[in-house]
Amino acid sequence: MSVSRGGFSSRIGFIMAAAGSAVGLGNIWGFPTQTAGNGGAAFVLVYLVLAFCLAYPAFMAELLIGRYGQANAVTSLQKMSKRPWQKHFAFVVGFGGIICASLILSFYGIIAGWMMSYAVEPVFTVVGLSSVAEWVITQDLLRNLLFTVLFMFMTVYIIRRGVEQGIEKWSKRLMPMMLALLVLLIIYVVNQEGASEGLQAYLNPDISRVLEPDLLVSALGQAFFSLSLGTSVMVIYGSYISKKENLVTLGAQVTLIDVSIAFLAGLLIIPAMYVAQAQGVAIFAEDGSLISGSSLVFTVLPTLFDSMGQMGLFIGFAFFVLMSIAALTSSISMLEGPVSYAVERHNMAREKATTFIGLVILLISIVIVVNISFMLDLVAMIATQYGQPIIAMLCCVFVGWIWQRNELLNEIKLGNETVENSLFWKVWPVYTKFVCPVAIAMVFIHSL
Ligand code: PFF
Repeated sequence: MSVSRGGFSSRIGFIMAAAGSAVGLGNIWGFPTQTAGNGGAAFVLVYLVLAFCLAYPAFMAELLIGRYGQANAVTSLQKMSKRPWQKHFAFVVGFGGIICASLILSFYGIIAGWMMSYAVEPVFTVVGLSSVAEWVITQDLLRNLLFTVLFMFMTVYIIRRGVEQGIEKWSKRLMPMMLALLVLLIIYVVNQEGASEGLQAYLNPDISRVLEPDLLVSALGQAFFSLSLGTSVMVIYGSYISKKENLVTLGAQVTLIDVSIAFLAGLLIIPAMYVAQAQGVAIFAEDGSLISGSSLVFTVLPTLFDSMGQMGLFIGFAFFVLMSIAALTSSISMLEGPVSYAVERHNMAREKATTFIGLVILLISIVIVVNISFMLDLVAMIATQYGQPIIAMLCCVFVGWIWQRNELLNEIKLGNETVENSLFWKVWPVYTKFVCPVAIAMVFIHSL
């Protein structure tokens, strides 16, 4: 670990930070919503297979690129490149990832702002400011702007403080809090009337749907979004890990945490919908499918919390705080991608670079907020449906086809003496070279 550029001070620091990036609105909102809309446990099964067979190998590729390069995404990829065309290609891939992270942050921050506004609503209610409470959950332009700015301010505040004092310290604080809130909420919800029906809907697979192409595309997109792939984030987090650490195991642990939290979130959200139904809330759309997307989080669930009286105020508060924390540990990772680039390639001071890039991204967010009806979905689509799979695929191409094989194997061996006997050693390099790029490309082309 190069001390001058900072790095994670401990293994647990890295795990919390990388899991913090991975676990976000994608897990707690996206995963249960997709599950509800795609045949319940059939989606869960496909998701698990794709997360471990495609997303994990691609995730390892990004971590290894970063740890080898000990630098931002562009510099790391260029260190692996020997020929001039490879260096240009490295620039395109690395910078593409940085742009992708910035675009995701520009819309993610808006949605995270909504989560914060729903978290403060019960607080205003309790202190008797009911008109403010009503206002913070309207789609008012000023409200959207205010909470987006607030959320970006928090993200910038943490990233300005650096890797150890910012990312690592805050991830270590926030992740356990988030997990505790999640578990408490699950315990509460599964004990309510109607929850068992929800558990059944969640855990009984409709096997006939497992091979549906659309389901495969959604599950892969979800897995890539969830592991923050194709955004330079895992490259830069990989670059902050010590060469003494066993990356193969660390990567597997982070993947396992990410998948487990998505699974737990399903245990909360889907039973909660059926509890809401037992309270008389409509949870099926006109076409018979479960209500998903923003109406689930901002209509069905708040109606459920309202129906619970005083307790509902507290549960609603806890739920939206959970969402906000999950979003914050992800948003800081998105900002670190461009900031590390500006600091290392353009010699900017960290504080200055963070504030400047934070402001630029905030400006994009403001443009989106003002044109929310069409721009939110558009930017989300460009960044997550096109940007992420393409960049993640190109990272696999880099590892498989451009990186010198002996250098790659040396990097895998660091901190891991027995790796040569493992399945990872035998399978992963070939798998990443041939299977991953083709499989990602196939799913991507289908999604078009
Ligand atoms: N993984 C985050 C989630 O599941 O919500 C989203 C995310 C974080 C995407 C960081 C991209 C990224 F670079």
